[in-house]
Amino acid sequence: MGAGRLLAGLLLTVGAAARWVATPDTVRPRVVREQLLWVSGEGHGGVHTFRVPLVAATRGGALVACAEGRKRSAADVGAKFIACRHSPDGGATWGPTRVAADDGSAADGLNLGALAVVGDEVLLLFARCAHPPQACGPPSTHLLRSRDGGRSWGPPQNLSGVVGSEVFAPGPGYGIQPYELPDGSIAVNIRNQNSYRCRCRMVARSWDGGETLPPAAVTFDPALVDPAVAAGVLVTGDLVFFSNPAHESQRVNLTLRWSFTNGTTWWGHGLQVWAGPSGYSSMAAPPPGAQGPAPFFYLVYEKGQTLSTETISLATISIAGDP
Ligand SMILES: *[C@@H]1O[C@H](CO)[C@@H](O)[C@H](O)[C@H]1NC(C)=O
Ligand SMILES: *[C@@H]1O[C@H](CO)[C@@H](O)[C@H](O)[C@H]1NC(C)=O
Ligand SMILES: *[C@@H]1O[C@H](CO)[C@@H](O)[C@H](O)[C@H]1NC(C)=O
Repeated sequence: MGAGRLLAGLLLTVGAAARWVATPDTVRPRVVREQLLWVSGEGHGGVHTFRVPLVAATRGGALVACAEGRKRSAADVGAKFIACRHSPDGGATWGPTRVAADDGSAADGLNLGALAVVGDEVLLLFARCAHPPQACGPPSTHLLRSRDGGRSWGPPQNLSGVVGSEVFAPGPGYGIQPYELPDGSIAVNIRNQNSYRCRCRMVARSWDGGETLPPAAVTFDPALVDPAVAAGVLVTGDLVFFSNPAHESQRVNLTLRWSFTNGTTWWGHGLQVWAGPSGYSSMAAPPPGAQGPAPFFYLVYEKGQTLSTETISLATISIAGDP
């Protein structure tokens, strides 16, 4: 009988732990670890600038992070390679930088991009010659596939035959899949490049799986103050997270916000992750089944002391604030 009670008690404990519920009281995001994945500059492998970071959580708690390695200048145009690092253990240790694609000495070259986990594969989308009229060739969109969780990549597949040869700059982010909200709509949180109507984010919604994004359904979210930058969005469990440098004109004050209302409202003032220069960001969470009792996710972002392009940093964030 004693053993029976003990077992019942254990089951109860396990059951209780698995039933972590997101409420304004339990959601207290906190950075529990931060690591520099890449450092820009001549002294670090001769790569001028690392930019446009992406992260994906793959099988068995592994992670892959990728960024543009801009060889000789910080500019969007110019020769680049795609740098990726793999962590087999949720960010505890990281393998060396591997080159997923390289454009040699192209005048314009490649740009990231989106990183998505689809079944057993990791997909990496990137653009080439996205800045006409640079002497580079027709704009094109390319796909890399990895079958080993992002350790190695197959040859690039030119998608121009599928998507055409318009400038189609995928991402930055993880594509549309987990974008999709629990109500079945797809929300596209948009960089408002010319600060149309507000210095904040625009949101477009589709109710037909992305076939149409009706202009009449475009809204402005004044809570998401933004200097015109690529931001991060993550849907995990019942929560939506949003990351960007929360400033009207400068890329500073990297802030994480969360929503209990499918992204229609944001709770409180969010969490300031880094007060200083900060730019593009991207987030990923392990699948719900692999989350365990203390849910967490990863935020990768451009971070610096003087310029946001100095480093690429990966923060592990505990949603409940657990150490
Ligand atoms: C991709 O394919 C298109 C259409 O065939 C072609 O024009 C373009 O040059 C290709 N791009 C690269 C980098 O191979
Ligand atoms: C979010 O979407 C889900 C699924 O449609 C719905 O059950 C829930 O009520 C929504 N939450 C809010 C606060 O609108
Ligand atoms: C940083 O962003 C937060 C959230 O919007 C805001 O409350 C805070 O005032 C900002 N800080 C600075 C220094 O801009």
